[in-house]
Amino acid sequence: MLRIVVCVSGGGTNLQAVLDAIDAGKITNAQVAAVISNSAGAKALQRARDHHIPGILMSPKEYSDREAYNEAFTAQMAGLNPDLIVLAGFLVRIPPQMVQRFPDRIINIHPSLIPSFCGVGYYGLKVHEKVLERGVKVTGATVHFVNEGMDEGPIIAQKAVYIEENDTPELLQRRVMEQAEWVLLPQAIDDIANGRLEIVDGHVRHRESRV
Ligand code: GRF
Repeated sequence: MLRIVVCVSGGGTNLQAVLDAIDAGKITNAQVAAVISNSAGAKALQRARDHHIPGILMSPKEYSDREAYNEAFTAQMAGLNPDLIVLAGFLVRIPPQMVQRFPDRIINIHPSLIPSFCGVGYYGLKVHEKVLERGVKVTGATVHFVNEGMDEGPIIAQKAVYIEENDTPELLQRRVMEQAEWVLLPQAIDDIANGRLEIVDGHVRHRESRV
């Protein structure tokens, strides 16, 4: 049984998609052991509590400097003994020591087709604002492994979403979530939990096609 720790900062709709998929049997061999948030007000923490999952607050504001936070966060994570760490709308940069401690065991969901509209400054609604500003016709979401770079690890899965006339950043954000994020993230977790993925030469390979 894959032990998952989910890290969140806000609404937690991706966390909810994962919890619902586990309840519905769409993700098998996996359980969410804990949810970590950097923000006390995150609705995601309430979602965790509603599911009787421990919610842990780890805010950088409570530490003297970033290095102290990085050490404490990594120690907290190690204590939870996760097989997989899922960043589901987590706005804090993952400490380098955590990446080293959990190689190929951290995944992230990003609301664009990487390598477009990603990296420093591309988070939340800003991604969709930039997409509309640039006038691209297709966007989407990406699930990828996390390395020490920003949105740079091996890509697990991507799904395209078309821009529509009269889109606003808010409308587009919602559609990318519904059509791509909430589908891709549970699928990726199920694939990992059931040993269907491997990383070969820095690229993700699916061992067998999904049925
Ligand atoms: C999602 O768009 C996710 O891709 C991005 O932040 C947003 C989080 O939404 N990284 P939620 O907290 O899962 O509702």
